Amino acid sequence: MENLSFLKKFKRYLVTSALPYANGPIHIGHLAGVYVPADIYVRFLRMNDEDVVFIGGSDEHGVPITIKALQEGVSPKVIVDRYHEMIKRSFEEFGISFDIYSRTSNKIHHETASAFFKKMYDAGQFLEKTSLQYYDEANAQFLADRYITGTCPNCGYENAYGDQCEKCGSSLNATDLINPRSVLSGNTPVMKETKHWFLPLDQYEPWLKKWILEGHKDDWKPNVYGQCKSWLDQGLQPRAVTRDLDWGVKVPIDGVEGKVLYVWFDAPIGYISATRELTDDWEKYWKDQETKLVHFIGKDNIVFHCIIFPSMLKGEGTFIVPDNVPANEFLNLEGDKISTSRNWAVWLHEYLAEFPGKQDVLRYVLTSNAPETKDNDFMWKDFQAKNNNELVAIFGNFINRTLVLTQKYFTGIIPGIDNLTEYDRQTIIEMKAFPEKISQSLHHYRFREGLGEMMNLARLGNKYLTDNEPWKIFASDPKRTGTILNISLQICAELAILSEPFLPFSAEKMRKMFNLPQLKWKDAQNGSWLEPGHKLGKVEFLFDKIEDPQIDVQIQKLMDTKKSNETLHSLLKPSKPGIEYDDFGKMDIRAGTILEAEKVAKTKKLLKLKIDTGVDVRTVISGIAENFEPSEIIGKRVCILINLETKNLKGIESKGMILMAENPDGKLFFVTPDEGTQNGSVIK
Ligand code: MF3
Ligand code: ZN
Repeated sequence: MENLSFLKKFKRYLVTSALPYANGPIHIGHLAGVYVPADIYVRFLRMNDEDVVFIGGSDEHGVPITIKALQEGVSPKVIVDRYHEMIKRSFEEFGISFDIYSRTSNKIHHETASAFFKKMYDAGQFLEKTSLQYYDEANAQFLADRYITGTCPNCGYENAYGDQCEKCGSSLNATDLINPRSVLSGNTPVMKETKHWFLPLDQYEPWLKKWILEGHKDDWKPNVYGQCKSWLDQGLQPRAVTRDLDWGVKVPIDGVEGKVLYVWFDAPIGYISATRELTDDWEKYWKDQETKLVHFIGKDNIVFHCIIFPSMLKGEGTFIVPDNVPANEFLNLEGDKISTSRNWAVWLHEYLAEFPGKQDVLRYVLTSNAPETKDNDFMWKDFQAKNNNELVAIFGNFINRTLVLTQKYFTGIIPGIDNLTEYDRQTIIEMKAFPEKISQSLHHYRFREGLGEMMNLARLGNKYLTDNEPWKIFASDPKRTGTILNISLQICAELAILSEPFLPFSAEKMRKMFNLPQLKWKDAQNGSWLEPGHKLGKVEFLFDKIEDPQIDVQIQKLMDTKKSNETLHSLLKPSKPGIEYDDFGKMDIRAGTILEAEKVAKTKKLLKLKIDTGVDVRTVISGIAENFEPSEIIGKRVCILINLETKNLKGIESKGMILMAENPDGKLFFVTPDEGTQNGSVIK
């Protein structure tokens, strides 16, 4: 595959990584899909003395945030403040080397996004349309995006969102959903008129086709190119870029109230805002054709980064568009899709706490198993095996043996080279090929392959040392031992350089052990960093074995999650959205006693109860006849809602409702006020 853009020389790089929603912590799926590859790429570029800016930040708008806030009954600000801090800290500790980790609730972002929209609006680049949108009457709210779920028209998945199906990845309009339901009330929504602004994607189609289908056929990954092609083949429709919500960037049009920019309009502009926040020189990164813009994302973000955002950039008129969008597929966990709501994940902050100092192990495993071309699985046993059999047994073992032998025979001072054997020569030729090989892999976003080559260099060294057995010949031929160790040390130093993008913490340790300065990629090509006479530093272990009990704890944790998901989440009703104090305060619930009970004729479910509420004696019809015999409940203490509207059931006026608890299997129980309460006691 000829990659033309690789041949083109760029002056600088602007590397972005998807802004995670600040509605939950980071998990290994985020890391493998986006942040680890982006970080490898950026560290590699920096080692090549490239001018590069690496952008990250939290996506703090949109329905994912407000829904989370609703579920917890707090304001969206509480949610984003909590998770932004947490995400930022864990990225830092994990060694994701952002130049800036910003957030879209910042003032500079609101200004930037607002100005971007305004410029396009003033230039007449949006369609203004009044259309019918789903509306939840019970909550008096329009149902944007994730406030509505239903069946995906493309794949039949039952819980697709109003803007996207997470199963098949297609991007949807809420009106496409079959059987739409309001997330707020569960009700079927009604249609109501509202005005919005649309980005006429159809008008960008010819340009997009030329740019992607002709221009990037050979250098974009097949999964990315394929998704783009299928959208473009289907034909693009105008897309609303505003929403009826009050959390987000306000629509900057005079007289417009209660509307914000669609989160997918404002969030990618967050890359621009963050660059502005980072440097006054931001324009050269965004507006000069000699900048190479690369977006690292997961596959569910492809349409937004390859079609919508580029159309916005093109429409605005002064920005460059991405050179590449190396999106990854998904990482699954032990055979199941990672899910925040089912708590099916390995959370970064937990990993950091439970495996202190083992950032590189996770980076290694996630890269060697990266979902670059297809979905992949993270398995704890595999994590353990990769650590023990590869990092410890090959990489660490080689470095450690070389250092220990050099200490032992040459007091930690690098010996010189004597005569070279054919084996030595061959090894030197092979080792010299690695910097270029790995460089090729990384420039082409093949991070697994690059890491594989890095390990091959460690294998080469390990085998060289083992085959030549320098410890056996020291007594008879110390010069030969010196030559072997010199060559081994050269390989060690080369590894210290080439492993840095992948394993930055270990590379740092190695530099200390070898007493090396911070080196550049080209230093690995030049060779001879460890001159004879150079004194090594103190030897420490790079990696250590992970034993079964530590892995068993993790597997057990997942099994517990699975079990509680099965018994709880699948059976228990999901929690309802938060309510205000007043909503609860309106209910008048009292302690009471059932005085009489009889079946309602010609019904299976209904009992007619006479209840002493303390306030009065009244009749209540209750649907519990299948669960209780009238005789067994006479005298039962109950809680009763007394100010519920009167309802006529089978010709009988029912005044109120008694409170029952329902188990997941449908079994009913009375909620009985404790002894000592009297009829009429207020329940609050
Ligand atoms: N928050 C989005 C997600 O998690 C990604 C936003 S990327 C950006 O899927 F470009 F919009 F910033
Ligand atoms: Zn679908």
